[in-house]
Amino acid sequence: MSRFSVKDRTILITGASRGIGKAFALGFKEEGAIVYGTGSSDKSISWMSESGIIGKVNNVLEQDNIKDIIEEIKTKHGKLDVLINNAGISKDIPGSALSEKDMEELISVNFKAVFRASQAYYKTHKTKGGNIINIASVLGLRGFALATVYSGTKGAVIQLTKACASEWTRNNFRLNAICPGFINTDMVSGMTSKESMLKEINSKIPMKRMGTTEDLVGAAIFLASDASSYITGQSIVVDGGLTEIV
Ligand SMILES: NC(=O)c1ccc[n+]([C@@H]2O[C@H](COP(=O)([O-])OP(=O)(O)OC[C@H]3O[C@@H](n4cnc5c(N)ncnc54)[C@H](OP(=O)(O)O)[C@@H]3O)[C@@H](O)[C@H]2O)c1
Repeated sequence: MSRFSVKDRTILITGASRGIGKAFALGFKEEGAIVYGTGSSDKSISWMSESGIIGKVNNVLEQDNIKDIIEEIKTKHGKLDVLINNAGISKDIPGSALSEKDMEELISVNFKAVFRASQAYYKTHKTKGGNIINIASVLGLRGFALATVYSGTKGAVIQLTKACASEWTRNNFRLNAICPGFINTDMVSGMTSKESMLKEINSKIPMKRMGTTEDLVGAAIFLASDASSYITGQSIVVDGGLTEIV
C-alpha cells in the first residue's frame, strides 16, 4: 500500500459543507477514506449523503455537539483517525469598526471551536493516538488589512497546534496546520466579485492566480497519511508563493 494511503481511515472534517472543507471531504472520499463532515445546518449538509459522506450538524455558535460526534465515530469504527478543524469565518470589516459581537463570533468559530474539538478528540483517544490538522491561514503569519481579529485567531491556531503537539505527542497524537493563501471560496467572494480587486490579488501572487480548493487537498492527504509520520507541530503554507517569494 502507498505510504500516502488514507484508505479506510476515519476522517472528521468540520465545515465540510462548502469551500475548502467540501473539497477535503470529496478528496478523502475519493481516496477510500470513511468521511464524516459537519456543517452548521441540516440544509448545508444535505448534499453529503449522495456523495457517500456522513453529514453531521454542528453549529459551534449554538449547540456544539462535536464531542458526541467523535464518540459516535469511535463507537462505530473503533477510532477516529484524523480530525480536520476547518470550519471558519471571516469579516471584511476594518478593525476600528469591528463590534464586540463580531469579535466574539470570530474567536468562537475560529479558535474556541478548534480547541474544543481537539480537546474532545484527545480526551477520548488518549490510549489510541490521533492526528489533528488545523486549517489556519497565511494571515496568521502576516498582517493584512480588514483581517485584524481574523489574523489574530489564525495566529492563535498556529500556536495552539504547536503547543498541543508538544503536550500530546506522548499519547501518540500528531498535530499540524495548513496555512492557505487566497483560495476561491465564498469566504473571499467580496474580493473576487470585483474584477479590479481580483486582478490586483492575482498580480501579487507569484503563481499569478488565486488558489482553488483542490490545491489544498494534497497537503491534507499528506498530513493524514503515514508519509508524514515524523512531522508534528508544523504549518504547511499553500499559497502560490504569496508569503515567501517576492
Ligand atoms: N478561502 C480562503 O482564502 C482561506 C484562506 C485561508 C484560510 N482559510 C480558512 O479555511 C477554512 C475554510 O474556509 P472556506 O474559504 O472554505 O470558507 P467557506 O467557503 O465560507 O466555508 C466555511 C465553512 O465553515 C462552516 N461554518 C461557518 N460558521 C460555522 C459555525 N458557526 N458552526 C459550524 N460551522 C460553521 C460553514 O458551514 P455552513 O455551510 O453550514 O455555513 C462552511 O462549511 C476556514 O477556517 C478559513 O478561515 C480560507
